[in-house]
Amino acid sequence: MADRIKTLIAIDAEVDGHAVQSLLEDVPSLNIVGVINGLEESWRALQEGKPDLLIVACAGYSDRALYFIDSAVKQESERAVVVVSTGSPNGFVRRVFEAGADDLLALPEEPDRVAFALEKAMARRRGAAVASGVALAPMICILGPKGGTGKTLISTNLSVALASTGHKPILVDLDLQFGDVGLALGIRPDKTIYDLARSAGSIDADKVGDYLMSHSSGARVLLAPTRPDQASAVTVDFLRDVFTVLRTMADHVIVDTPPGFTPEVIAAIDNSTDVVIVGMLDSLSLKNTKLGLETLELMGFDPNRISLVLNRADTRVGITREDVDVIIGRAPEVFIPSDRQIPISVNDGQPIVLQEERSEAARAFRALAEMYAGDNTRPEPAAASMNGSDSPAPKRRFAWRS
Ligand SMILES: Nc1ncnc2c1ncn2[C@@H]1O[C@H](COP(=O)(O)OP(=O)(O)OP(=O)(O)O)[C@@H](O)[C@H]1O
Ligand SMILES: [Mg+2]
Repeated sequence: MADRIKTLIAIDAEVDGHAVQSLLEDVPSLNIVGVINGLEESWRALQEGKPDLLIVACAGYSDRALYFIDSAVKQESERAVVVVSTGSPNGFVRRVFEAGADDLLALPEEPDRVAFALEKAMARRRGAAVASGVALAPMICILGPKGGTGKTLISTNLSVALASTGHKPILVDLDLQFGDVGLALGIRPDKTIYDLARSAGSIDADKVGDYLMSHSSGARVLLAPTRPDQASAVTVDFLRDVFTVLRTMADHVIVDTPPGFTPEVIAAIDNSTDVVIVGMLDSLSLKNTKLGLETLELMGFDPNRISLVLNRADTRVGITREDVDVIIGRAPEVFIPSDRQIPISVNDGQPIVLQEERSEAARAFRALAEMYAGDNTRPEPAAASMNGSDSPAPKRRFAWRS
């Protein structure tokens, strides 16, 4: 059979290689070109054989295997890697995926289930290769380490502002337990990310497209589950796939997040080209905003790709804009005033940027959208300064005037 998958099986120590081999020999789609005992020997065979699929058999947690997988993935990102574990994979699963494997199968398993998983891994890897060949859209993650700072307000208005100027944004509601993007946009949750996660088969653009809801502005939305107990069906690995696919389907992917650095938020940040941090004019929020910036720095996120938005920026609470620059260490790019129309617009499910076009808040949202709308789709580097006093104003800084 000409199109069988050229497969190399690498056997880690303490694994019964014969048992693994006889299981995989029953998978008709595999063309097994080698079954190699020992990972060092397997590494050499990998260089010579150039298989399309690498199966790594381990007896449970194995640092050796993790190192081997990581090296194999780094060396050839288009090759699919599947791990089969003859022992308990507890504590191993996350590490295996972090190392870059496509799937992990705990044995014993029925041959047809094994065949399905291997073919799925191959299909995903081919999909990823296609995705890497097309330009991935920027993904903008809206973060606010503290609850209620205005993340949902900003992500919905930014998406709608982009859509109403001819762009094709997709907004993801990643507040998996209490997401309210649907309410803020007046969209009925006929389909949500939960339904997508529960659907069978692989994740591709056609499939994901079926689960997006449309807003009248043209923005498409992947809504959060309708009940908190459904959130656990949405795993981090699934999200990573979904983010990549969405970035092939849109001009911009915008992600509304829950407060804090939850695992799904971290996955979103990992997949994002840009971050918008939302702070408010109170000392707790500013402290958390600064902590959020420091966390992003620790994660290695490029500070030039982070924008700071100060919401309710006119509230008279004894903290000045200059104080903000000093506390946070950088100047916000966009200021959004408090506006009584905002809660009304949220309650009506009508984003203010469409309803009150001439309001200062709507202008601020349009300014934010313009920062991401250009051809280069990147915000200009914001002036980061630890003393906040001698930094030049960022060129795209939107000066909100009271
Ligand atoms: N600039 C503003 N002027 C008036 N009201 C505002 C403003 N910003 C936010 N609000 C109101 O504050 C509330 C919280 O805003 P929003 O839901 O956007 O915050 P959030 O950061 O998404 O919250 P959570 O962390 O709970 O997801 C909303 O009712 C919104 O209408
Ligand atoms: Mg929210």
